Amino acid sequence: MTTPELLSDFGAAPPAARAADASSYLLWDLPLRVFHWSLVAAVTVAVVTGELGGAWMPWHGRAGLVIVGLLVFRLAWGIVGSATSRFTQFAPRPAALLAYVRGRWRGVGHNPLGALAVFALLALLAAQAATGLFGNDDIAFAGPLNHLVGDETGDRVTGWHRLLATGLLALLVLHLAAIAFHVLVKRHRLIRPMITGRQRAEPGVPLPRRVSAGRFGLIGAVALAAAVVVTISGTDRAPAVVPAAARVAAVPAAAPASAPAPSPAW
Ligand code: HEM
Ligand code: HEM
Repeated sequence: MTTPELLSDFGAAPPAARAADASSYLLWDLPLRVFHWSLVAAVTVAVVTGELGGAWMPWHGRAGLVIVGLLVFRLAWGIVGSATSRFTQFAPRPAALLAYVRGRWRGVGHNPLGALAVFALLALLAAQAATGLFGNDDIAFAGPLNHLVGDETGDRVTGWHRLLATGLLALLVLHLAAIAFHVLVKRHRLIRPMITGRQRAEPGVPLPRRVSAGRFGLIGAVALAAAVVVTISGTDRAPAVVPAAARVAAVPAAAPASAPAPSPAW
């Protein structure tokens, strides 16, 4: 498999390679697959460490920042990525949704109903990560942007963060249930393409358009994600992060000299 092929559909591969493997095509490009499985790992760590709390919170913050970077990358990749990664390609339209519900939709990539779930999942993850950045756990951990808002706002946003976590878990259960239904009941081949990238060609199903992000598109998307993460984590270092509870404890002179310093978010 050549590098351009990893970034676009098989149309970009040399004619010989195309002819040799005409029974399948590249459904999900490599960056999208790396995004997906890294997201699975980071969200798992974020959910587990968020629930454990306490000493696990700095790890929660790290996983959260990784998720921020992944989401920024996905946003850029949804614009410059290969055909099936582009938001315009799978943005659900009423006609396509109707055709899908009536069992008449034929296409590649996210189906119209699945696309709705994908947008909901990405939006909820973004809201979850954004609220986390401004939150604090009222003990010794604060998000890297918590110092930019007052105590009251920080607490309110933390409340939203907890609430959103419940919604996110529900949507993740739905995501896994939908995939299990497609794989086990409808016998659709979904999981393997998300690992290898390749899907079997089927008669009557159009192949993805030939668009490639190219190396510069990939480098640009990764650089943007890294810049956002570095900027966010850097803001934490200028003023000291002192969560509400630590500030209250610090007021009386009786506060013990050995009181633990608040953990940095990053
Ligand atoms: C924390 C857990 C997970 C999260 C946050 C997550 C998130 C996502 C997202 C955001 C997408 C859309 C990809 C895109 O950006 O275009 C997606 C698609 C997909 N995910 Fe997951 N996922 C999770 C777990 C899993 C697991 C465990 C599996 C496999 C067993 C899986 C299989 C898939 C498949 C097959 C698709 C493509 C669906 C399609 O064909 O339209 N996901 N997932
Ligand atoms: C999508 C990414 C994230 C997920 C899935 C997530 C998930 C969670 C969960 C499940 C909890 C426990 C909620 C509860 O106690 O009911 C939590 C708490 C928390 N998270 Fe996140 N989080 C994410 C991102 C972040 C980020 C980026 C930060 C900051 C760097 C952050 C900061 C916090 C804080 C401060 C709490 C403690 C709130 C409390 O005291 O209950 N989170 N998060």
